[in-house]
Parts: sequence; C-alpha cells; structure tokens
Amino acid sequence: MKETTAATKTAIDSKSSAKQNLEVDQAQATVGKAFCENPKMSMRDVNVFYGDKQAIYDVSVDIAKNEVIAMIGPSGCGKSTFLRSLNRMNDTVDGCQVKGEVLLDGDNIYQQNLDVVELRARVGMVFQKPNPFPKSIFENIAYGPKIHGLADSRVDLDEIVEDSLRKAGLWEEVKDRLHQPGTGLSGGQQQRLCIARAIAVSPEVILMDEPCSALDPIATARIEELIEELSQNFTIAIVTHSMQQAARVSNRTAYFHLGKLIEVNPTEQVFTMPEHQLTEAYITGRFG
Ligand SMILES: Nc1ncnc2c1ncn2[C@@H]1O[C@H](COP(=O)(O)OP(=O)(O)O)[C@@H](O)[C@H]1O
Ligand SMILES: [Mg+2]
Repeated sequence: MKETTAATKTAIDSKSSAKQNLEVDQAQATVGKAFCENPKMSMRDVNVFYGDKQAIYDVSVDIAKNEVIAMIGPSGCGKSTFLRSLNRMNDTVDGCQVKGEVLLDGDNIYQQNLDVVELRARVGMVFQKPNPFPKSIFENIAYGPKIHGLADSRVDLDEIVEDSLRKAGLWEEVKDRLHQPGTGLSGGQQQRLCIARAIAVSPEVILMDEPCSALDPIATARIEELIEELSQNFTIAIVTHSMQQAARVSNRTAYFHLGKLIEVNPTEQVFTMPEHQLTEAYITGRFG
C-alpha cells in the first residue's frame, strides 16, 4: 500500500515537472552531455544580440574533434545565429554582437587583431543555398588556396583542385569541364562544389547551415554520404530542420529552443529517450 502511494506520488511529481519544463526556464543549464575532453571548439556563455534584441542566451557547449554535431530546433530558435558565431560570420551582420567565449583549439576566436580571413579558412562554412562564385569550376576551388598562398605552382594548384573535388565526390562528374562556369551545374552539384571550395583551404571545422534544404532527395542523400566521409578528416557542425537528417548524419544532437540550448546528447538518445520535455515535445511533433 505504501509502495503504491510512493509510486503514485512520483508519477504526479514527474508530471508536474514535465509541465514546468515546457516553459523555458531562463536559469536552467543545458541538460545532457554538452562537454567533452579535448574539444576542437568550446563555447562558453555565448550570448548574441541583434541591436537590443537577444537571440542566443548563455550557450555553453563543446564540439569534439571529428564529430558531427547536429543543431535542431523550431524555426527562429537561433540555430543559424549560433552557427555563425562559430567563425565570426556574425561580424558581417549589421548590429550583431556576440558575447562570451568561442575557443578553437583553446584560443578565443574573438580576440582582438585576429585575422578573420584565416579563421574562416580554418572554420569553413557551407550555406543553405549553393553560392558558387560566378567563375569556372576550377576557379571556384582554386581561389581560396591562391589567396591563402597554399599552392607554390600550377601543378600544386591542379592537385588541390582535383583532391578537393574528389573529396567532395564531384571529380568524376566535372573533370572534363573544369573551365565551364560553376553556376551551370545542378543544385546538388553546386552544393558539392561549395563543399569542395571549403575543403580546398584545408579547414579543420566545417559549419553547414541547412545544406540540403534546396536539394532534391537524391542530391540530399549524396551530401549526407559525403558528410559521413568528411567526418573522418574534419569536425562538422550542421544545422538541419530535418530530424531524419540529424539522426542519419550526426554523433550528437543539440536542441535549441527560443535562443537557449536545451539539451545535447548522443543522437540516438535524443531521438529515442530525450532527457528534456521540450526536446521530446519537438521530436514528437508537438511543435516545430
Ligand atoms: N540579421 C538579423 N537581424 C535581426 N534579427 C535577426 C537577424 N537574423 C536573425 N534574427 C532573429 O534572431 C532569431 C534567431 O534567428 P535564426 O538564427 O535565423 O534562427 P534559426 O536559424 O533557428 O531559424 C530570430 O528571432 C530572428 O528573427
Ligand atoms: Mg536558420
């Protein structure tokens, strides 16, 4: 009898705490496994503002070397804003201010006098809409290595171009038309060209902001395969609105809600046994 009472009480307690958790508790820290040993990147108390409007609140999380971390959450929750703060792409947005620490191999990328062009070569970015330069396929890839002085000769440059296109799974499709415009390729090919362009400057981290949202399912599958291959050599943070995609490509998943990082856990756990009620509500489709 006593046991039943205790069990009932626990059930009631967890129900009422579930209810509480559906509101964003401004003071509550991220639940789950947000931190790791020897992180490639470490973010601590990151806050991002657009003018006086705050978009990201006290986000602290590590990204491990060679992991794929997926960032999910309802539209407008701050995924892109947070991702852009990882390579100072927010510097290019008027009125945007980032506070807190973003460490790459232990060094703060927001320190004064840091060369942001070099930073963005180390932490590359692939956008939602493929955005090749209005140049040839070859020049799209060769441009970065040239300005960063990575090629000593034409032979070197040819090698970097071929190697990057191979790693992006595009070489066989374009090797006979390297001097034709990049914009003449299909959407999926253009996105792989953009990935090849990011790879060409030997980045350490690649940020991807919904890289498949403009692509058909076949092109999407191709990019997802590529992400898996790339994760052997690079650390990848990918924003996606597709939970299936997050489940397919990532090691850990981070769930954002109204500018707060609610939960980070191994991807399988997030989609089977989420720790936070808000994560559960999102993955079961109660809001999105
Ligand atoms: N350039 C901007 N100026 C002002 N507000 C912005 C800007 N970009 C995004 N926001 C706001 O910041 C919040 C987070 O947006 P965003 O990072 O784009 O979310 P998500 O990528 O998750 O859809 C939203 O409220 C959005 O309206
Ligand atoms: Mg976005």
